[in-house]
Amino acid sequence: MSTKNRILELLEQQRGESISGEHLAGVLGISRNAVWKAIKELQKDGYNIVAVTNKGYCLSAENDIISIPGIKPFLSERSQFYANKIQVHKSLESTNKTAKEMAVAGAEHGTIIISDCQTMGRGRYSRNFFSPSGGGLYMSIVLRPEAMHFKNPTSVTAFAAVSVCEAIESISTKVPRIKWVNDIFIDGKKVCGILTEAVTDFESGGLDWVVLGIGINVHTRTEDFPCDLQSIATSIYPDEKRSGVRNRLSAEIINRILGFETLPSETEIFEKYKKRLMVLGKKITVIQNQVEYKATAIDVDSVGHLVVKNERGERITLSSGEIRI
Ligand code: BTN
Repeated sequence: MSTKNRILELLEQQRGESISGEHLAGVLGISRNAVWKAIKELQKDGYNIVAVTNKGYCLSAENDIISIPGIKPFLSERSQFYANKIQVHKSLESTNKTAKEMAVAGAEHGTIIISDCQTMGRGRYSRNFFSPSGGGLYMSIVLRPEAMHFKNPTSVTAFAAVSVCEAIESISTKVPRIKWVNDIFIDGKKVCGILTEAVTDFESGGLDWVVLGIGINVHTRTEDFPCDLQSIATSIYPDEKRSGVRNRLSAEIINRILGFETLPSETEIFEKYKKRLMVLGKKITVIQNQVEYKATAIDVDSVGHLVVKNERGERITLSSGEIRI
């Protein structure tokens, strides 16, 4: 870890309190001048660090910059192992794109790519995913099937959707619900999208790797969304900027997706998934291969397929596609 990040780690552990330059230098075994240089670099990166005479350096409690030292204190004991597999970027085209390139090059299970913003964030069906700086959490995780015994990407997406709902609940008072297949809603508006991309081994037919991409609107204000999204998208905190929340949320997601003690079975995952589904019993519009029809959502089966009843009373099981409520 760089000197800059080691100092940030110490300051993050005591946010809002002063730590003397002498103490920092002593703990890290470096000169006070090296401490001062690293503090200057951190200030250049946007950290509000105040130097108080006779007291030392104090990292303001008010900042929401994503960093590894900021995430680490919230990682569970089991997840600490993944701390050195995290990369945090200021800007990327798409964290999924970077993670896929890394997976192809052999990146290990649990490699985590996070970016403060994305210039070409992607959603399902090649749609754009609005990813402004400071507004959200854009994260992709490389998963290897030997570490996670899921048979199909649908289970991974469902596991991720449930994990993200739980993570949001752990940092806020919001009640997230899932819209089949992989959108998370708060108060009837989309707060998170999940894009799972996988490569199958041609010979065995099994999964080779999976990249799980998660995009969460954290602070984006309604008026800052593009016009076409303003009535359908929301954030966890649309009206206020909370300090350190993106670091905590990152850790809470990592704790659930990678740091679990026992991986839940697919049946357990879909039970939890179903409890959070917001569509059961509702009239919906199904969109499949550019054909639309009205139906009622009646169930989700043990592999995540949505069971609907069309207007002629026929039961149809949807393995893919999209619905509108
Ligand atoms: C959707 O809503 O259709 C899925 C959106 C997925 C967005 C996330 S943000 C992190 C990762 N990188 C991307 O380009 N997309 C996913």
